[in-house]
Amino acid sequence: MKHWAIILVGLLAGCDSRPDVVFADAAITLPDDLTELPPGPGRQAVVENCTACHSPSTMLQQPQVPRAKWESIVGKMIETYKAPVDEKAIPDIVDYFVAVQAAQATNPGGSAAGQ
Ligand code: HEC
Repeated sequence: MKHWAIILVGLLAGCDSRPDVVFADAAITLPDDLTELPPGPGRQAVVENCTACHSPSTMLQQPQVPRAKWESIVGKMIETYKAPVDEKAIPDIVDYFVAVQAAQATNPGGSAAGQ
């Protein structure tokens, strides 16, 4: 009797496993996060040095802070988190975030100043 129950369950499961139905609702569309980094000078430096660990939104959704704070954030990434950041790119990265935050403050949803 037990065996019949197992076979029956197996048959029912078999009926349900048409691939087109099973996978239709499981499709996940990941947002193309990279496009969320607004265009602007220094954007490429950010893509090359920061996006290995962060989605753009992680970096952009920070309270607006002064330039010195961005410098210390980038410094913390390098010292504390061992981020392989190209030292020559640091000023470009800092400029980028300062400009993007300034543009966001005056024009929410807009892109970086001076693009
Ligand atoms: C090696 C991985 C790594 C790289 C590369 C990296 N970070 Fe981070 N970052 C972290 C970790 C870990 C944290 C702390 C946990 C978190 O908030 O995700 C963090 C946190 C942050 C935060 C949140 C605020 C704070 O002070 O903690 C910001 C903003 C940030 N990173 C910006 C950057 C920028 C800009 C770059 C490029 C220069 C960068 N990160 C590169 C690992 C990295």
